[in-house]
Amino acid sequence: MKRVFSGVQPTGNIHIGNYLGALKQFVQLQEENDAIYCIVDMHSITVPQDPKVLRQHILDVAALYMAVGLDPKKSIIFVQSDVPGHAELSWILTCNSYTGELSRMTQFKQKSKGKESAPTGLFTYPILMAADILLYDADIVPVGNDQKQHIELTRDIAIRINNKYGETFVVPEGQFVKSGARVMALDDPTSKMSKSAENPHSRISLLDEPSKIKKSIMKATTDSEGVIRFDIENKPGISNLLSIYSAFSGLSIEELEKKYDSQGYGTLKKDLVEITVDALAPIQARYREIRDSQELLDALKDGGQRANAIAEKTMKRVKDRFGLGL
Ligand code: TYM
Repeated sequence: MKRVFSGVQPTGNIHIGNYLGALKQFVQLQEENDAIYCIVDMHSITVPQDPKVLRQHILDVAALYMAVGLDPKKSIIFVQSDVPGHAELSWILTCNSYTGELSRMTQFKQKSKGKESAPTGLFTYPILMAADILLYDADIVPVGNDQKQHIELTRDIAIRINNKYGETFVVPEGQFVKSGARVMALDDPTSKMSKSAENPHSRISLLDEPSKIKKSIMKATTDSEGVIRFDIENKPGISNLLSIYSAFSGLSIEELEKKYDSQGYGTLKKDLVEITVDALAPIQARYREIRDSQELLDALKDGGQRANAIAEKTMKRVKDRFGLGL
């Protein structure tokens, strides 16, 4: 059995990009692996958060985890800050990382663009992510494309420490889906769909009502050619809609191009609305059942304890290697 680990930030507006790129894989991977899924609340405080809202968002993401099909009997589901090992290991990894490699992270470059000074947490964010992964000896890390560089850094740090201190960490592999690893914004298909974009029609959130989903898709930016074909460079809008359609329906892009041969964009969009609404309806129903339940709190408590037991073992091994403590 392989160990799988991944995480999602509790920042609200979890969208179909998060679902198609990450959560959907989480559910498949829990069947035949030893899977651990985290709500990474300590990552979310790299930017200011309202404490009351953050607590709610932690529960929102936990409920969404379960609503998309994660089963606490099959997977460990827990909150990052419930396990002290993440922060502890993060410091040890910080002492084995370089400012040069962190400066090259595109997410940091984007988030700190134009600022003379950026929050230190934004800069060291990828190290905390490496700690999350290495703490659990993860073999596989299912994520969207935007996390590729962070996974590479995690591997580099693990290999560096293994070379210097002897076999300490499992070197993990990122796992990416074919369709949906990079869902683009509906209003600007050249940038990725994001939780924090100002325009709510740039994304479809998992909890959006059918009328909102319809509006966002029907307004989605396309082009004036009028031909439905996949061509990311010249037709990023239509290509994005086709990818989303393919990921939700299981039909390949080629099958979709055939199906919509000589049809208009309006038809494609209308069908995509239906497919999306139908895919999200059961998730939304399950979410409403579970969000305020004791079952959810119990799952997180139990998950935290099980995660901590694994983390403590790793920390003992790491401290031994580094000669920390007695
Ligand atoms: P986060 O919370 O931004 O996103 C959660 C997951 O969704 C994926 N994703 C997307 N996939 C396809 N298209 C998109 N437009 C899109 N936007 C987001 C992300 O790649 C991610 O898989 N740093 C991580 C959280 C994290 C983590 C970890 C992940 C912290 N520690 C350890 C894996 C392992 C993040 O901010 O994801």
